[in-house]
Amino acid sequence: MNPVKIIITDLKPGMFIVNPGISWLKAPLLYMQEGLITSQEEIDTIIKKGFAEAYHDPSRFSRMDGFAKDPDAAHPGGSDNGDDGDYSNWPDPRTPQVSLGEEISQAKAIYSDSFEHVKSLMQAAKGGAVDVAASQPYVESIVNSLNRNVDALISLSKLKSSDEYTYTHSVNVTIFAVAYAHYLGLSEDNLHLVGMASLFHDFGKAFIPQEILNAPRRLMPNEQEIMQSHVLLGYNQLKKVENMRPEVLQGVVQHHEKHNGTGYPYRLSGKKIGIYGRILSVSDNYDALSARRVYKTPMPANVALAVMYKMRGQAWAPGYVERFIKMMGIYPVGTPVQLSSGERGVVCRSNPNFPAQPCIMLALDPVGRPIKPRSLDLSRQPEVEIERSLAGNEADQMDITFLLSQAFQ
Ligand SMILES: [Fe+2]
Repeated sequence: MNPVKIIITDLKPGMFIVNPGISWLKAPLLYMQEGLITSQEEIDTIIKKGFAEAYHDPSRFSRMDGFAKDPDAAHPGGSDNGDDGDYSNWPDPRTPQVSLGEEISQAKAIYSDSFEHVKSLMQAAKGGAVDVAASQPYVESIVNSLNRNVDALISLSKLKSSDEYTYTHSVNVTIFAVAYAHYLGLSEDNLHLVGMASLFHDFGKAFIPQEILNAPRRLMPNEQEIMQSHVLLGYNQLKKVENMRPEVLQGVVQHHEKHNGTGYPYRLSGKKIGIYGRILSVSDNYDALSARRVYKTPMPANVALAVMYKMRGQAWAPGYVERFIKMMGIYPVGTPVQLSSGERGVVCRSNPNFPAQPCIMLALDPVGRPIKPRSLDLSRQPEVEIERSLAGNEADQMDITFLLSQAFQ
């Protein structure tokens, strides 16, 4: 019988997983470890690792104690919505010009300078000032750092725990969007425009009352409406600026539109959403999901990517989120993790061919004692695997910037 594709949350004990022989490039979040699923704990671990789909063989289903056979298991087709796309031509992440260890301290300075700049920019906005030209050098330094080593700024994006979320968010979205635009093959000139659009994408939030902007709770419907008005508030200010490039305006005004037409402010759908709007939307959502906020435990990067993968073809045009994941890796560089050996460390190099087996810079031994940092290539250590990613307080036990500065490979 042909294998049946299911979403990972439909996995049940007794199902037999088969490897359909699809390359990782085609299905980055497909669980392919062949064999019988024996317990709910096993399923929980697979979900926690960020896998989104699997193929199982209904003819090899084993009735497990306490579990009835899944009546839907025999329906071929499963959840496949057909957005396969041609993934084979996607590039691998670029080769760095300098090592991560070399770039990290410079990247750190660029990050904090950009943060201070966005902060003063948005504070000045309340008085009616929009100095777009002053932002150019910051965008340029971000583009240049990403050109030297794309992982340095990306790995810094989750370090700052800030109640000044709007500012860190603007810098983070700029980092992700420029890296993604480069990955998609946009020209150097276009990267600057993506960077400007990103830095200003939430400019309108300068005009939203603080108590709504930083409310540590779900917003009421009328508050949500006020919050959503930030798109047009920002756009209307920016379009008054002389020589403002239309690409930047497109990115700003479309960053909350969704492929299926459920976004705002104009409910645009499909091809009506331009490339700048698409790049910003993917980057904006990734940062919002994985952000450190004062009132919530952040979602680990791999889990945020898995959540976005489930929204593929709905929120974004087919292929857009898949390529973003291909660029970031399932465990992006800078992700703190715990290994099956009990050791803890941080991902310091991704592995495009075996994304679940990146290189780890180890920091803590199995009982939690600090060790002299050393790197471990999981693709050469098949008996050790990533057990889970760490977030919040658990992640704070390690000095991630220091660990990455040791990554001279
Ligand atoms: Fe926004």
